[in-house]
Amino acid sequence: MHIDLSGRRALITGAGQGVGKGIALAFAEAGAEVLVNDLRAERAQEVADEIAAAGGAAAGVPFDVTDYDAVTAAVSDGGPVDVLVNNAGNAGREGFGTLGRFVDSGPADWEPFLRVNLYGVLHCARAVLPGMIDRGWGRVVTISSDSGRTGEANLAAYSASKAGAAGLTRALAVECGRYGVTVNTIALGTMRTPATEALWSDPDDPRARALLRRYAVRRPGRPEDAAALAVFLAGPQASWITGQTYPVNGGISFAQ
Ligand SMILES: NC(=O)c1ccc[n+]([C@@H]2O[C@H](COP(=O)([O-])OP(=O)(O)OC[C@H]3O[C@@H](n4cnc5c(N)ncnc54)[C@H](O)[C@@H]3O)[C@@H](O)[C@H]2O)c1
Repeated sequence: MHIDLSGRRALITGAGQGVGKGIALAFAEAGAEVLVNDLRAERAQEVADEIAAAGGAAAGVPFDVTDYDAVTAAVSDGGPVDVLVNNAGNAGREGFGTLGRFVDSGPADWEPFLRVNLYGVLHCARAVLPGMIDRGWGRVVTISSDSGRTGEANLAAYSASKAGAAGLTRALAVECGRYGVTVNTIALGTMRTPATEALWSDPDDPRARALLRRYAVRRPGRPEDAAALAVFLAGPQASWITGQTYPVNGGISFAQ
């Protein structure tokens, strides 16, 4: 099956590295024009340049998804967005950060996770959906986590923020399906990206070995594993799929 995204403009948030970069490259390969967002302008531009060097169409569009005014300004300056991939996540500029036991944490620990993973998705969806509804076609794909699907110890606020984004997906799917707009979530298992590189760089690290034993496919996820499904959900063949959360996780077992 060939998935053709030519003629579509896709905004991928947090696409300066990791999963988002993999998604941006895959969208360009499928023919989409890619708006490469990142908090860090130089990262966004590097990925846009890489796409252009390979013959694709891309522009770097730096903004912080937690800043609603910046999001709306960038979207109104950047022209119509046909596909939004909400990938920017974790805890913003500080990367993943740590949370630890819920009972030892407080609002200042929770806020960065909620701001990026939930408010960031609200902001971007709010900015692009009116145009999609007017044009009668649109796709929203949100990158969530197994932590949000099943819960994860010591990551309560992250889990809550990712579950919130999946709840938003379901509500927007119901509200927007009649306008030709689909909204879905991809829930990832542990990926190998800059955010988690410290874990994977030493193959003998006992934490990595213990984690991998929980994965039927004994490797961490790769950005292209997420990208394959994101491209499919954005493509014409997926027009009757909406409101769903799809795990992409190497067959993880959750008992810890
Ligand atoms: N890495 C994993 O194991 C894993 C597992 C499950 C889900 N996820 C999800 O996948 C997504 C990507 O993760 P990753 O591992 O590639 O992350 P990463 O930290 O390697 O890259 C994230 C990128 O997003 C950018 N970013 C962060 N906050 C932003 C903001 N407020 N506005 C714009 N850009 C911002 C960062 O600058 C960075 O370039 C996240 O939503 C994450 O929660 C990752």
